[in-house]
Amino acid sequence: MDYAATGEQALARIAQASELDALEQLRVEFMGKQGSVSGLLKTLGAMSADERLSVGPQIHALRESVSAALAARKAALEDAELSEQLARERVDLTLPAPGAPRGSIHPVSQVMDELAEIFADLGFAVATGPEIEDDWHNFTALNIPESHPARAMHDTFYFPGSDAAQGGTTGPNSGRMLLRTHTSPVQIRSMLAHGAPLRIIAPGRVYRSDSDATHTPMFHQVEGLVIDRGIHLGHLKWTLETFLKAFFEREDIVLRLRPSYFPFTEPSVEVDIGFELVGGADGKERRVLGGNGDAPGHGWMELLGSGMVNRKVIEAGGLDPDEWQGFAFGVGVDRLAMLKYGMDDLRAFFDGDVRWLQHYGFSPFDVPTLSAGVGAQSSRGAA
Ligand code: DAH
Repeated sequence: MDYAATGEQALARIAQASELDALEQLRVEFMGKQGSVSGLLKTLGAMSADERLSVGPQIHALRESVSAALAARKAALEDAELSEQLARERVDLTLPAPGAPRGSIHPVSQVMDELAEIFADLGFAVATGPEIEDDWHNFTALNIPESHPARAMHDTFYFPGSDAAQGGTTGPNSGRMLLRTHTSPVQIRSMLAHGAPLRIIAPGRVYRSDSDATHTPMFHQVEGLVIDRGIHLGHLKWTLETFLKAFFEREDIVLRLRPSYFPFTEPSVEVDIGFELVGGADGKERRVLGGNGDAPGHGWMELLGSGMVNRKVIEAGGLDPDEWQGFAFGVGVDRLAMLKYGMDDLRAFFDGDVRWLQHYGFSPFDVPTLSAGVGAQSSRGAA
């Protein structure tokens, strides 16, 4: 018998098997109990010693090569099947879910993410505080004592049943409950919780009884606070400049610091940002941020409040103002969003109109990172 020819035939058929089922049939045909190769092995028993010496190695070689070929072909077919399955079952995560409305990131969330990214790079942590706040944290600790005119300016929502007769602010955590009118109370909470040194931003919702095209009863602010030794106005100016250049993605942002008054800072500065008036195709002039506001065709726009933290505020935060100094700032997040992405009516932010969200919203996959640029792909330029 020509064992070599038998082997070649078997190997050829194995090589041609294109499916695992067919290959399994071949395995049974050759190597099964009743298989042809198994049958050849059985013939060895009936042979003479001489015959076995010459034929045995050939039959064993045949069996080896057939079983090796079966194993190799099996591995190849399994590989191909897996690749095909992977290709077939690939999931495109960017496809909208079937039937569901397509979600988007609200511009306020987008801007808050951008702020967190920019300030994290400067070593700031994100802090939070309660929206239902007490009088002491919202006012007294920030050097706005009762009867201070600044309280009237805040149009505060007080909770019913907590009228003034219930007692004023006698100390920490006392006084009427209210909806916080600004994010500044997080300054106090952060100092009390973490001591100094401190570098935080505190984004969040704030509430005032006020409503028109540029004011809504609920809006968003971000507070910034740095407490350390030897902090001065230069640190404040550099930090704001660095932040605003990164946020607006322009190197030509120019700031003007104007003396102002806030109870919680001394000295207080209001920060203006320079813009250029640019004529549009429709004949309307647009303000494009950047450049010195004093230059011809330019102007200044008020952007945020800030200053050196008042000694009394540092004391209320449980720190020694002779050892620790700091600067703070507060800015409207909605306003930042409007300036960066070109919306003109604040009320639309809170209408929940899906068309508006689709127009201004951002992809959930568009996570702001410093390396890829904090601005979203759909950045629509300045107001
Ligand atoms: N809390 C102020 C407001 O709501 C904004 C503000 C001004 C915050 C100056 C600050 C600051 O931290 O230093 O109008």
